[in-house]
Amino acid sequence: MSKHRVSRRQFLNYTLTGVGGFMAASMLMPMVRFAVDPVLKAEAGGDFIATKQKVDELTSEPVRVDFTYEQVDGWYTSDVTQTAWVYKDEAGELVALSPVCKHLGCVVNWNGDKNNQSKFFCPCHAGLYEKNGKNVKGTPPLGPLDSYPVEVRDGILYLGKPEPNTHIK
Ligand code: FES
Repeated sequence: MSKHRVSRRQFLNYTLTGVGGFMAASMLMPMVRFAVDPVLKAEAGGDFIATKQKVDELTSEPVRVDFTYEQVDGWYTSDVTQTAWVYKDEAGELVALSPVCKHLGCVVNWNGDKNNQSKFFCPCHAGLYEKNGKNVKGTPPLGPLDSYPVEVRDGILYLGKPEPNTHIK
């Protein structure tokens, strides 16, 4: 028989220390998480994706910009391609709009309808949007096109995740 038998007192001590440690960790983890959360959030908010578009080539005429990024889904990695319509507004600010129609999700084109020039046109059900993405009343879409947050790094356009349109005042 082993000489290192655990006494009842030692057993209780080990057990209570273990349970106490576990409880302390459960209480501390949310606090630690709360303290470092802003750091984690800043990193998550920083995931802009590089396009191939040079910003000084952009004009007031919307152009289609395709960009690709790697998406990791569990163990599966795939390339995802998205599109933005990008131009400079009267103030020279960059505007990047999602092409996904707010009616049923078709893809809109700039000047896609010869009877409605200087508008985004959705060919599926003749949806129309103003240049800033605002849906034209009387056409199927009930909301404006989403917009992408933009960043410029070394003269190249970077785009964030689509968000509710920020260009309609
Ligand atoms: S999906 Fe665009 S108008 Fe219907």
